[in-house]
Amino acid sequence: MITSKSEEETKKIAKKIAEKVENGGFIALFGDLGSGKTVFVKGLAEAFNIKGFSVKSPTYTYIRRYPLEIKNIYHIDLYRLEKIDELLLREILELMEDDKNILIIEWAEKMLENLPSKRIDVVFKYLDENSRQIDIHDKTGN
Ligand SMILES: Nc1ncnc2c1ncn2[C@@H]1O[C@H](COP(=O)(O)OP(=O)(O)OP(=O)(O)O)[C@@H](O)[C@H]1O
Ligand SMILES: [Mg+2]
Repeated sequence: MITSKSEEETKKIAKKIAEKVENGGFIALFGDLGSGKTVFVKGLAEAFNIKGFSVKSPTYTYIRRYPLEIKNIYHIDLYRLEKIDELLLREILELMEDDKNILIIEWAEKMLENLPSKRIDVVFKYLDENSRQIDIHDKTGN
């Protein structure tokens, strides 16, 4: 259990996690509105040197792709969905097949039954204006 006292601190925590998935992996983000999930993704994006990271969720699709040299990073935000639908799920499962891909999912609880067993869970909790509790569960076995 970690307590982050600022946006910058949350990004730093993300950068440590980035090392664990740099060759591919799945990060599932859980937590309420405004608890820091997207700030965390921004930290990951900085770690991977992504230019033009967008914090906005895409309008017509739920998946945003950031191409890197030999792999791709996918930022997926399920916020607006009641529950994940078949089509989107199939798309995500397909992306997971390439183990070089890095998938980062906000509101991962909306596909709880379909999350891969090897993943890193990051759970955010709002404590006060500038503090967030961040719990990391590394289920990759590495
Ligand atoms: N310690 C902290 N860590 C992260 N964000 C913080 C912290 N303290 C304050 N904040 C603020 O909290 C907000 C977090 O917003 P963010 O968009 O990351 O939340 P979110 O979990 O992605 O929400 P949503 O579910 O709406 O996408 C930002 O405005 C950020 O500046
Ligand atoms: Mg967000």
